Amino acid sequence: MKPIAPLMIEHRTIERMLSVFARERQRIFKTGQVDYGAIRISVDFFRTYIDEYHHRKEEDILFKTLDAKALSGEDRKVMGELRDEHSRARSVIEKLEKIVRYREQAHVTVEEIVRYMELLLKWYPAHVEKEDRRFFLQSMKYLSDQEQAAMLEELREFDRNFTQERYGELISDLEKYLRLKERGAAA
Ligand SMILES: [Fe+2]
Ligand SMILES: [Fe+2]
Repeated sequence: MKPIAPLMIEHRTIERMLSVFARERQRIFKTGQVDYGAIRISVDFFRTYIDEYHHRKEEDILFKTLDAKALSGEDRKVMGELRDEHSRARSVIEKLEKIVRYREQAHVTVEEIVRYMELLLKWYPAHVEKEDRRFFLQSMKYLSDQEQAAMLEELREFDRNFTQERYGELISDLEKYLRLKERGAAA
């Protein structure tokens, strides 16, 4: 199995969520009603599965390894675009996350929410298609069979540690937050 296989399987999971998200955008556009519970679930998926899990594997494992290789000008250019697209998606996800979290104070309009949803729906499928059709398979020619096997193992190792790391961080954040709160209450 090539190391790009698990990444492409993740793309199919992402596409499922994007089609749910597209239907939800359509519903909001038609009715003017935002279901914040539903958006929260999508935003959490974008934040965790796409950005912290999938993008990290691409950036920290695949792109990083390819950085050290003699890539053609075209492949290097595409890899740069892919990195930029991750940052662009990240900033839209952060905006949507803020809207969902602080919606009472943020005074956001339904139009704004729909606009951010549309941005993500416009950019992200094109990003996935670029990786699937113009980069992943082409990039494998720079890696020997041995390097590909090592990368596959590194991706598997990342999967094994991901939940541990993520929830370890979550507990630390919660501990910090509650400690600060206790101190505030004692003062
Ligand atoms: Fe990507
Ligand atoms: Fe991807």
